[in-house]
Amino acid sequence: MTTQMNDNRFDEAQLQEQFDATIEAKDRIEPRDWMPEAYRKTLIRQVAQHAHSEIIGMQPEGNWISRAPSLRRKAILLAKVQDEAGHGLYLYSAAETLGTTRNELTEKLVAGKQKYSSIFNYPTLSYTDVGTIGWLVDGAAICNQVPLCRTSFGPYGRAMIRICKEESFHQRQGYELLMTMMRGTEAQREMVQESVNRFWCPALMMFGPPDDNSPNTEQSMAWGIKTHTNDELRQKFVDMSVPQAEALGVTFPDENLKWNEERGHYDFSTPNWDEFWSVVKGDGPCNAQRLAHRKRAWDEGAWVREAALAFAENQAAVEPTTAEEAAK
Ligand SMILES: [Fe+2]
Ligand SMILES: [Fe+2]
Repeated sequence: MTTQMNDNRFDEAQLQEQFDATIEAKDRIEPRDWMPEAYRKTLIRQVAQHAHSEIIGMQPEGNWISRAPSLRRKAILLAKVQDEAGHGLYLYSAAETLGTTRNELTEKLVAGKQKYSSIFNYPTLSYTDVGTIGWLVDGAAICNQVPLCRTSFGPYGRAMIRICKEESFHQRQGYELLMTMMRGTEAQREMVQESVNRFWCPALMMFGPPDDNSPNTEQSMAWGIKTHTNDELRQKFVDMSVPQAEALGVTFPDENLKWNEERGHYDFSTPNWDEFWSVVKGDGPCNAQRLAHRKRAWDEGAWVREAALAFAENQAAVEPTTAEEAAK
């Protein structure tokens, strides 16, 4: 008995060593590999939160599909919103390789036990917001997600490679929409500026709390899940966005936004973290609406999931040759 326990302990230490060596070498951890329980839990939380964000993120823009100003804009927006559904599915699949199920994760989301990105709790008040979301929100997502292509967990990193290619299309379609409006009437230019004013601060908050108040960052970086801190990514986003705003002809609502020669970066005001925490805790302008809508869709889709499952079970029970025969 004692020998057995010692053996187990030895095995565990050896497995931990192998895991550490894989992380150290910046190789991938795959689902079949041993991993510390805390690593698995952290990843499930992060990948689930990411998957939920893709799915909830369909709502603010989906709101405008039936009111697109032209067939071209409608086709673009439909494609974009469908892409987000696909991103959600890749990510739920990645989470499933960690030993959870999409059902379980969605149940947690609709019960308010798992989070999604705070940005989707802000309303979309005009079609201009479709452009601003593409430019700034998908732009911030790209800053966050490009480094995740090299994250230490294989299925997550591989999902991100495909997602990032599509996010880049999302950003461009948003920027192109705003650029078209800026070439239009004075009223259209004002609409763009008003929309940018509303989304700038919430977009900065997408990178999460400041580093000195982000308890998970250090461990996530040690595990190679994250490769940059929240503040580093936020700075990168600001530096990237200022020249784009200049090219577009809009300004960001921040009087402290200016180039700092010494740092080689733009300075900017500290986001309103009280607002951030209140939105994260459920008190944003649209939290209740977004969650209620998701829950309704989940409840109303229950019969479809049951029917699909019953169909799959029936198919599996039928001899393969008979199934082929039936398909003819
Ligand atoms: Fe996405
Ligand atoms: Fe996107």
